[in-house]
Amino acid sequence: MATTQTLSHVYPIDGRLNARGRLEIGGCDVLELADRFGTPAYVVSEDDLRARARAFIAAFEAAGQDDFRVVFASKAFGATAVMRVFAQEGLDCDVASAGELHLALRAGFSPASLVFHGNARDDGEFQLALDAGVGLIAVDGFDDIDRLERLVKGRSERQALLLRVTPGVRGDTHDKISTGQADSKFGVSIGDAPAAIERLRASRGLELRGLHMHIGSNLFSVGPFRAAIAALAALGDFAVYDVGGGLGAAYTAQQEPPAIEDFVGEIVSAARELLGSGKRLMIEPGRALVANAGVTLYRVISVKHNVSTWVAVDGGMSDNLRPMLYGAGYEADVADRFGGTTRVQLAGKHCESGDVIIKDVLLDDPRVGDVIVVPVTGAYGYSMANNYNAVPRPPVIFCRDGEARVVVRRETLDDLHARDL
Ligand code: LLP
Repeated sequence: MATTQTLSHVYPIDGRLNARGRLEIGGCDVLELADRFGTPAYVVSEDDLRARARAFIAAFEAAGQDDFRVVFASKAFGATAVMRVFAQEGLDCDVASAGELHLALRAGFSPASLVFHGNARDDGEFQLALDAGVGLIAVDGFDDIDRLERLVKGRSERQALLLRVTPGVRGDTHDKISTGQADSKFGVSIGDAPAAIERLRASRGLELRGLHMHIGSNLFSVGPFRAAIAALAALGDFAVYDVGGGLGAAYTAQQEPPAIEDFVGEIVSAARELLGSGKRLMIEPGRALVANAGVTLYRVISVKHNVSTWVAVDGGMSDNLRPMLYGAGYEADVADRFGGTTRVQLAGKHCESGDVIIKDVLLDDPRVGDVIVVPVTGAYGYSMANNYNAVPRPPVIFCRDGEARVVVRRETLDDLHARDL
C-alpha cells in the first residue's frame, strides 16, 4: 500500500512525497517541473510565502501589539513576483539600493511603505528615494545627514527618518553576517548616537521618527535582540523602533530556530518592558519569510569515485553562493528517492574546487539524470546569483494548487552578452 511520507520541516509547508515517492511542492511534481522547465530551477511555494507573512502579522496581533510594521527585507529574494506577494499580504519593504527601490515600486509597494537602508548610498540614490517619496530613510552616519540636509533643501515636506544605531551587541552567527558588534561598517555607534540625534532633531528638512538596529542575520536566539533593545532604550524616547531582521531558518532537519510567533512575542515583550508601550514596532525579516519556501532542482551530470564519491550537478556557486561564502550547510535528496545511504560530495559545475554545494550528504545511489533537490534555497540564492563561467541564471517557478508558473524566466545565452557594446 502506498504511504505518504511527511517531509522534514525544512521543506515548504505544502511539500510532500506523493504516492510514488516523488517530491511535490504546491501540488506540483518536481520531476515534471524539471522536465518541463529544465534545471537548475528555483521552485517556490507561493502558499508558503503567504503563510509566513501572515504568521508575522498574526504574531504581533497575538502579542497585543497594535502599532507594528512587518517589513520584507527584499535583498533576501529580490524578484518582483516575490515582492508582489508580500505587498499583497500588506507588508512594507526594505530596500537597500536604487535597484531594490526600483524593483519594490515595480512590484506594487507604495512609496510610503518603503524603508531605505544602506551604509554607502550616493546622492543619486538618495535623490531617487526622495523623489519617489519613500516612507522612511534609515540614516547610517553623519555623512548621510550631510547629504540629506543638502538634498532636501527647498522641499516643502520634511523627510521622515530612522537613525541606525550599532548597539554593540554580537549575535551568534557567521562573522560575515554579524552587524551589531561595536566595530561595524553599519550605523552610528552608541557613543556617537546622541550627537547624531541632536543634529537630526535640530534639522528643518529632516524629521527623526525613531531608531533602527539590525544586529545580524540567521540568529537562533532572541537574547541579543533584548540586549540591543536595551542599548537603544538608553538613547531617549522615540515613537518608532525598528529592530531589523535576523530570525534564522532551519537549513537542516536538526536545526530549530525560534517559531515566528515566539520570536515576535519575545521582541514585543522586550520592547514593552525596555521602551515602554505605545511605540510603533517594526521588524525586517528577510530569510524567515523566504528561505524555506524555496528549493533548487538540479540534474545529475556525472558520478565519479575519486576518494569521495563526487556527484556533479548542472548548477552550483552561480545559483547558490552561500556554501562558498559562509560554509553554509544544506541537505539534499534525489527527488524521487528520498533518504539513502550513499555518502557523496554534491559538487557544482564551476571551475573551482570550492564549488561544492554539500560536502557530505547521504543520497539514494545517485545516478546520471537523476533530479536532485536542495531545500531552503529561497533566501539569498536568487538574489546573490551570478554568471560565473557564463552560466545563465535559473528561472523562478511559483507553484500553488497544482499549477506552476514561471515568474522569472531562465537567462538565455544571448542575455549573457546583451550589455556588450
Ligand atoms: N534589515 C537589514 C538592515 C539588513 O541588512 C538585513 C540583512 C535584513 C533586514 C534581513 O535580514 P534577515 O532577516 O534575512 O536575516 N547573504 C547573507 C545574509 C545577509 C543579510 C544582510 N542583511 C546570507 O545568505 O546568509
